[in-house]
Amino acid sequence: MAVDLDRIGRASLKELGDIRIDDVLSFIDRGIENMPSHMDLYRRWEAQQWAVADIDFSLDRQDWLEATDLDRKATLWSHRLFFNGEERVTATLAPFVWAAPTPEIEVFLSTQMVDEARHTVFFERWWREVCGTDAKDMTELLAEIRPEANEGYNTLFYERLPATAQRLASNPRDFDAFVEGVTLYHIVIEATIALTGQRFELEAMREQQLTDRGFYRGFTAIARDESRHVSFGIKVLQEAVREDPKRYAPLIQKTLVECLPLITGTLDPPDPRFITEYGHTESEIVQFAFDSLNKRLRAIGINLAA
Ligand SMILES: [Fe+2]
Ligand SMILES: [Fe+2]
Repeated sequence: MAVDLDRIGRASLKELGDIRIDDVLSFIDRGIENMPSHMDLYRRWEAQQWAVADIDFSLDRQDWLEATDLDRKATLWSHRLFFNGEERVTATLAPFVWAAPTPEIEVFLSTQMVDEARHTVFFERWWREVCGTDAKDMTELLAEIRPEANEGYNTLFYERLPATAQRLASNPRDFDAFVEGVTLYHIVIEATIALTGQRFELEAMREQQLTDRGFYRGFTAIARDESRHVSFGIKVLQEAVREDPKRYAPLIQKTLVECLPLITGTLDPPDPRFITEYGHTESEIVQFAFDSLNKRLRAIGINLAA
């Protein structure tokens, strides 16, 4: 059956409960054939507003109280990565706005900053209302939930991403740093890691008939936001490669090759049952991540082999 992309595009939070993540992701694929402009993506942002305050977590809270120990641990592992990751990307996007090479890019990236802040607040609310915490503010809560040692994750979010943002802040005219930053932020972190994690968690919820939960709806709204961010990243890199393939194709490839072990590291759970108990394998998830990455690279006009 053909996917009704316009319906997904306009769906309210409540209606997002009837929508599959794979259909949301098809927005990115449609874009590959017919790239939306940065202003098209801006207009899509205006049409796709949603509010964390409109989400009802009461069923989610009931589920949490009845959940097994393994369910809780698996959920917390994933949500720690997402909550902390959303805060990290909120914290590092401002230099990208500053370094935007055109006003259209500046406008789009400003919408993305608001999105990332909203995603962070979504997880903060989930934490307070579903699993519970005594943390008095977001600083304390983020310190409490910071993901346990995961080398790939730490390198990506605490070294590479802030270092790139710092390079852009020091010299907003450094377009090489902008291209490298978009590769890291939009392609590695959002398109490959975040959307893969979202896809498997949302599909698991759908299989368990939990699509009326606040988390399902909010996380699907987040995935729809991420699909705009990823389309933007593809567009920026596609334009850079078209403008100067000899300079930008190798720069993007080098950044990606350096990040490959960080991608598998981030997706690797501390306990394999966090994946196998829910009917999947780690290699299936990594395969999905790399298949998505390859699709995005084809759209950009490069491949992984230098
Ligand atoms: Fe986000
Ligand atoms: Fe994002």
